[in-house]
Amino acid sequence: MQKQREHWSSHLGFILAAAGSAIGLGTLWKFPYVTGENGGGIFVFIYILCTFFIGIPVFIAELVLGRKAQRGAVGIFANLANNSAAWKSVGWLGVASSFLIMSFYSVLAGWGLNYVFMSLSQFYENRTAQEISNIFDVLSSSADITLFWHFLFTALTAAVVYRGVRQGIEYWSRFMTIGLLVILVGMCLFAMTLEGFKEGVQFIFYPDLARFKPSAAIEALGLSFFTLSLGQGIMLTYGSYMRRGDDIPKTAVIIGVMIVLISLLAGLMIFPIIFTFGFAPEAGPGLVFKTLPVLFAKLPGALFISTGFFILFVFTALTSAVALIEVVAANFTDLLGWSRQKAVLVVAISCFVFGIPSALSNTNTLFANWPAIYGKTFFQTIDDLVTLWFLPIGGLLVSIFTGWILDKELGKEEFNSGTALRWLWRPWMIFVRWVAPIAIVFIILQQSGLIDIDAYFGRRAIPNQPL
Ligand code: TRP
Repeated sequence: MQKQREHWSSHLGFILAAAGSAIGLGTLWKFPYVTGENGGGIFVFIYILCTFFIGIPVFIAELVLGRKAQRGAVGIFANLANNSAAWKSVGWLGVASSFLIMSFYSVLAGWGLNYVFMSLSQFYENRTAQEISNIFDVLSSSADITLFWHFLFTALTAAVVYRGVRQGIEYWSRFMTIGLLVILVGMCLFAMTLEGFKEGVQFIFYPDLARFKPSAAIEALGLSFFTLSLGQGIMLTYGSYMRRGDDIPKTAVIIGVMIVLISLLAGLMIFPIIFTFGFAPEAGPGLVFKTLPVLFAKLPGALFISTGFFILFVFTALTSAVALIEVVAANFTDLLGWSRQKAVLVVAISCFVFGIPSALSNTNTLFANWPAIYGKTFFQTIDDLVTLWFLPIGGLLVSIFTGWILDKELGKEEFNSGTALRWLWRPWMIFVRWVAPIAIVFIILQQSGLIDIDAYFGRRAIPNQPL
């Protein structure tokens, strides 16, 4: 029994909704912190290269596949690959990634909610920059408080998804995406007045070879896939909601450019603060929370700006989280015939439960010895597992499928339908057949230690990173 699939009411609505789901904590939280840890400059450059030459082609591929098959991620491969079990597992890999991302995403977004609350009570008053920054450590090591906000955010997301695709996502995304852009630009303008602005800009854009290790390429690639929500079937699902008259390549390019711009804006806002107040760029996942409130505290109207920013932070997280739960739930409704409500509830509760060790990872309560055994916190283990392995492998398989397995004519027809950029089909084909797979395999080999570009460049000793 085939139900009629919901479609987006307008093309702009679609772009804003897809952008709203893609723009999220990846740009506001992950980009600055990963860039800080990897020394800026060349890392940012590689991130941008990965986005344009690997990310956007894979993005187009996912939309093409999704619109062709009109199904969720697992169903797509069932449909287009003659029900091959191997290809269906690519869909499941994507579902697993979405699930894992959601489990720690809600912890972060929960912290964001907490910062809305803290901003309202003007927590920064009478505190020095260092004290404001340190509050995050207190927060993240408080098990009960972190769990509370983690729960609240997951419940909020589940409530939104419950209401259905269109009203739930499309409606809110437009306002939030635009509001976020406005506040980011405003904050960057303000950051320009800080002493450390020049140093911040230099950190992001100046290619300092001594600070870069080539093996960080996997982080750049993973970051690019993470921020664009690729390699896990989300854009496949979005593609299935697109109409045949919608322009796929243009949409992918617009969203790709937006994501890069917003990431850079977030960086331009955060790094000047770091250099002005003498914080460390490699502060890790807490970076956003440790730096931005320091800036807000300096501003006239701090109450509104700080609260406003964190509300937007939570909202962009919410539009992404809605999509994350949606992807997982959609596959259950498509394949197991579950009702939407049942699927949403089961998925949300599972995400919450699986997120508990992430929420508690700075607290020494659950899995207290995890970092001593595995070298990083539970939170970071899951984050790295998805970003450095699942997403790149998912992206690789999507590009191989589109470039080599999918009937060329079918792909071409779908690519061309609705676009004026038909000439792009050929170059795109070269990217999905050759460039993306080769680059991804190369980067994964480096990651797994089978080849070692660092050694080749003769730079094993890296500043800031004792081996
Ligand atoms: N792109 C999102 C962000 O930048 C995170 C994300 C990754 C995501 N994969 C997703 C969001 C799938 C929704 C669906 O925050």
